[in-house]
Amino acid sequence: MEEKLRRIGADALRELSNAGTLEDLNELRVKYLGKKGELTQVMRGMGALSAEERPLIGQIANEVRSLIEKELTTRTAALKEVAREQRLREEGIDVTLPGSPLLRGGKHPLTIVTEEIQKFFLGLGYSIAEGPEIETDYYNFEALNLPKDHPARDMQDTFFISDDTLLRTHTSPVQVRTMEKTVPGLPVKVIVPGKVYRRDDDATHSPMFNQVEGLAIDRRITFSDLKGTLDLFMRDIFGPKTKTRFRPSYFPFTEPSAEVDISCVMCGGKGCRVCSHTGWLEILGSGMVHPRVLEVSGYNSEEVTGFAFGLGVERITMLKYGIDDLRILFENDLRFLQQF
Ligand code: PHE
Repeated sequence: MEEKLRRIGADALRELSNAGTLEDLNELRVKYLGKKGELTQVMRGMGALSAEERPLIGQIANEVRSLIEKELTTRTAALKEVAREQRLREEGIDVTLPGSPLLRGGKHPLTIVTEEIQKFFLGLGYSIAEGPEIETDYYNFEALNLPKDHPARDMQDTFFISDDTLLRTHTSPVQVRTMEKTVPGLPVKVIVPGKVYRRDDDATHSPMFNQVEGLAIDRRITFSDLKGTLDLFMRDIFGPKTKTRFRPSYFPFTEPSAEVDISCVMCGGKGCRVCSHTGWLEILGSGMVHPRVLEVSGYNSEEVTGFAFGLGVERITMLKYGIDDLRILFENDLRFLQQF
């Protein structure tokens, strides 16, 4: 009986290693281990054995059985892998399947407009300057001819960090910072893009917004240089038909000062809801740099003059693209941003 068992084991292992398909393996499982399988048959006959023989034969039978089972598992795994590889080979890779699209990033409308403004002024020979967003009272107000108790400070509601430091309310402090660095060099021609902060929050005001400051200092710079520059600039941004209008205004750091309007981008000046039926839109503040500002920055106000202006990038962006609520610029809604 022992011999028979060993023979069955050897036959089974040989046949298993020759099996070429999973079906073959299944047939072999039935043939050897199934209810009517060869091994099962032999084990059934064990009842006829003597009490001495039985444990020995039982042990051999179990060994043979587990050998066959182990081989079955190994061969099944191997044949499954072969079958998988064959399937992949037959099917191949379908290169005509559409790929998964990559989302393309884009520029924020405020970035687009800021870059457009920069490009225009770089073309006129200006360079770009920057300054800190956390500013001292001195640069934000004092040096700009706005002493501590000056009522014009009320025009710019301010976030103070301490008595002497604040979030800058405009980019104008960079006028002084730039001149301090360049003095006595001439000409000074810079634009200053940057974030500014005011305690304001509604559909057309945000506590954080972006400005671009402009500053030009040289011998014999006049108000007509300011007018010519801004007129050209407005036509570059809003189209060649755009007209500009200068209205007398007041800023402590410029004298004289002017508010600049453009003909309404919606109605072309006829009057509509956007321009409150005036035909004009207020667009920026400007003026001739105040002699005191030149002097605190180190320049001789008897020798040099200059102009400055400051504009809100959000306002220009809203007018350019017909956006009626400023807050949508900061909501990060892709449905909005993907339109640019
Ligand atoms: N800084 C002023 C503001 O934010 C704008 C301005 C800049 C006016 C330069 C005149 C000259 O309101």
